[in-house]
Amino acid sequence: MQTGISGLDDMLGGGIPRGSVVAVLGSFGTGKTTAGMQFILKGLGEGEKCIFISLEEDETSLTRNASSFGWDLAAHASKGALALVRLEPTDAKTSVERIRSELPGFIREFGASRVVIDSVSLLSMLYDTPAEKRGGLFTLCRLIRESGASALLTSEISENNPGASRDGMVEYTADGVILLRSVDSSDESEQQLTIRVVKMRGAAHSRRIRPYSITGSGIVVHSGAELF
Ligand SMILES: Nc1ncnc2c1ncn2[C@@H]1O[C@H](COP(=O)(O)OP(=O)(O)O)[C@@H](O)[C@H]1O
Ligand SMILES: [Mg+2]
Repeated sequence: MQTGISGLDDMLGGGIPRGSVVAVLGSFGTGKTTAGMQFILKGLGEGEKCIFISLEEDETSLTRNASSFGWDLAAHASKGALALVRLEPTDAKTSVERIRSELPGFIREFGASRVVIDSVSLLSMLYDTPAEKRGGLFTLCRLIRESGASALLTSEISENNPGASRDGMVEYTADGVILLRSVDSSDESEQQLTIRVVKMRGAAHSRRIRPYSITGSGIVVHSGAELF
């Protein structure tokens, strides 16, 4: 299944295996939400139904940001091809409960092939113990897989380890992990965005670190370029 992110599909050997749950890890501003939108738009372009669950930005902010890339999310939503679901993080316990109890049925009824949850960091903060957190994320990934949809879960990275998610769990429970990083250039005059496929069950993927840009038409991975 193509991600819709130019260059990333090359790194993945064509795309992500259908039915997989892929975590996209990165700090703020690395393009996680944008990557989620691109994944959804690719599906919509193929005539698939898609669900975007946002715990961070509200519908207005999402549709406005999307339109800055020339993407009309609202049009897809009004046609019934896209469900934009906003969950209030203030009502977090209910959000977790609703995702667990309602998401599988909703994916089936809506007929969604692609699901994005932006982000699971807020979700996993709600669990009290690491065991509950692991259990919660594990169940979430299993429910999505059983529903037949493919999913992209965005996650903040850990402050101490930029190679790990903030909850330190999603990379274990997901089938795939894509790591976005913002690194200083050698003279620190500029930041360079880099992407790496750390894990992808069932795919012969590249492990090279590649530069990418966030352009006026979304994320573009320079899959043939070397880092400076
Ligand atoms: N229309 C646009 N054209 C080019 N770059 C953009 C545009 N809109 C946003 N960006 C870049 O994308 C970044 C935000 O990406 P986003 O997907 O929201 O990141 P994250 O979800 O990881 O915080 C902005 O900080 C900006 O650098
Ligand atoms: Mg975001």
